[in-house]
Amino acid sequence: MNSRRNFVKKTAMAGAGISLIPSLSFGAISNASQQKLKLAFIGVGLRGTNHLNNALLRKDVEIAAICDVDPKRIKMALDKIDKAGYKKPEVFGNSDYDYRNLLELKDVDAVIIATPWLWHTKMAVDAMKAGKYTGLEVSAANTMEECWDLVNTHESTGSHLMLLENVNYRRDIMAVLNMVKQNVFGELVHFRCGYQHDLRFVKFNDGKSAYGKGVEFGDKGISESKWRTQHSLLRNADVYPTHGVGPMAAMCDVNRGNRFMSLTSHATKGIGLHNYIVDNGGKEHPNAKLKFKQGDVITSTIETANGETIIVTHDCNLPRPYSLGFRVQGANGLWEVDGNRMYIDGQSDPHRWDSADEWLKKYDHPLWQKYGELATGAGHGGMDFFVMNAFVESAKENIAPPMDAYDAAAWSAITPLSEVSIENNGEPQDFPDFTRGAWVNRKPYNWIKDTF
Ligand SMILES: NC(=O)c1ccc[n+]([C@@H]2O[C@H](COP(=O)([O-])OP(=O)(O)OC[C@H]3O[C@@H](n4cnc5c(N)ncnc54)[C@H](O)[C@@H]3O)[C@@H](O)[C@H]2O)c1
Repeated sequence: MNSRRNFVKKTAMAGAGISLIPSLSFGAISNASQQKLKLAFIGVGLRGTNHLNNALLRKDVEIAAICDVDPKRIKMALDKIDKAGYKKPEVFGNSDYDYRNLLELKDVDAVIIATPWLWHTKMAVDAMKAGKYTGLEVSAANTMEECWDLVNTHESTGSHLMLLENVNYRRDIMAVLNMVKQNVFGELVHFRCGYQHDLRFVKFNDGKSAYGKGVEFGDKGISESKWRTQHSLLRNADVYPTHGVGPMAAMCDVNRGNRFMSLTSHATKGIGLHNYIVDNGGKEHPNAKLKFKQGDVITSTIETANGETIIVTHDCNLPRPYSLGFRVQGANGLWEVDGNRMYIDGQSDPHRWDSADEWLKKYDHPLWQKYGELATGAGHGGMDFFVMNAFVESAKENIAPPMDAYDAAAWSAITPLSEVSIENNGEPQDFPDFTRGAWVNRKPYNWIKDTF
């Protein structure tokens, strides 16, 4: 702990020097500190490898250890680390719980967890207990008990948890957030968002390649179909709410002067996955007999303490182009991502949409203005670069991250609450106050800065 404290002190001092360096590339920052964040990865599948790629772009990170139960993924990760000229990390993955041996390494400051959902809370709780600055992929938790586990462990250990929600760093989202903070929309009233992504080719494959044709999943599948599809089979719930709700929660200061109060959810029938199996595997395929519990389109309406509503949609089992369906609406106007349009009262022609382009350009977020070129190409249009940057910079200073344990809990709680609401014909469900009243006085996170 001592060396960790020294490390934090030294890098905090280095961090203070950031603004003195005129032209930066990420990580050049902490070259000045001589000391690097010792980072470990639990899970180097598709997503973990993506994070690893972004970490390898930095000069202020050392890859201290990696863990995965799939030796093929370990080999791929080691090759990348070697190619990038980094020292070979310690390797774990002999069993499902070998990650606990990784967490015992004193030399690991921070850990990024990118494993299947049912491992998330367990691993994050263990990581926080081991004193590691913990980055956790979305969604954070599957049950209400797990949501509380994250909060309680953060509070009892003092270790920070950052939810690695990359969509909060999307360029249009950050420009609109900038507009929100500059009061362009006026008092906020209503939001729409969701995860509307045809995932049929992710939920099924041929067991050989992640996006290969085929209708297998579970033990016969590969990558996400190995674990994700089972949730569609067994749960009628919005199982992936954070890409949509995360950006909206940041705009309306959830857990910092506002909070989610209650939710109602409804689900349509579920026909999409069955149809996909029949169309691609034939009606005699054993999977064609399965009854998937998840409705194809799940719609939840959240009420907030400040009187806004947020409609969250989960729509992943039918053919459709990708859209997270964002709408941000206030007393003075609104933005809608579908149609790329904006209307600001008194500035737009009355009753006519503006193209959003000019507005988004005008309010481009300082981070994107500064690092946009560098970020583009880092994955998911650049937002992966920024979420990694926020994680590393927060971990170096051991400060509260932009999206913390309370956010991880409140955003993930949509899953169990939507399940109960759907089961009970849309009955309203109350969100627990994960902050235990602290939301009233917690200050909004300062999202509008050009560092992270
Ligand atoms: N933010 C985003 O844009 C984004 C994109 C894709 C995936 N994700 C999230 O990232 C997470 C991982 O998704 P993925 O696409 O990489 O899945 P994946 O199946 O490709 O990778 C998961 C990895 O975890 C490993 N693993 C499983 N159990 C383990 C254990 N006990 N110990 C060590 N390793 C273990 C697997 O072997 C696999 O390599 C999921 O939560 C997913 O929702 C987020």
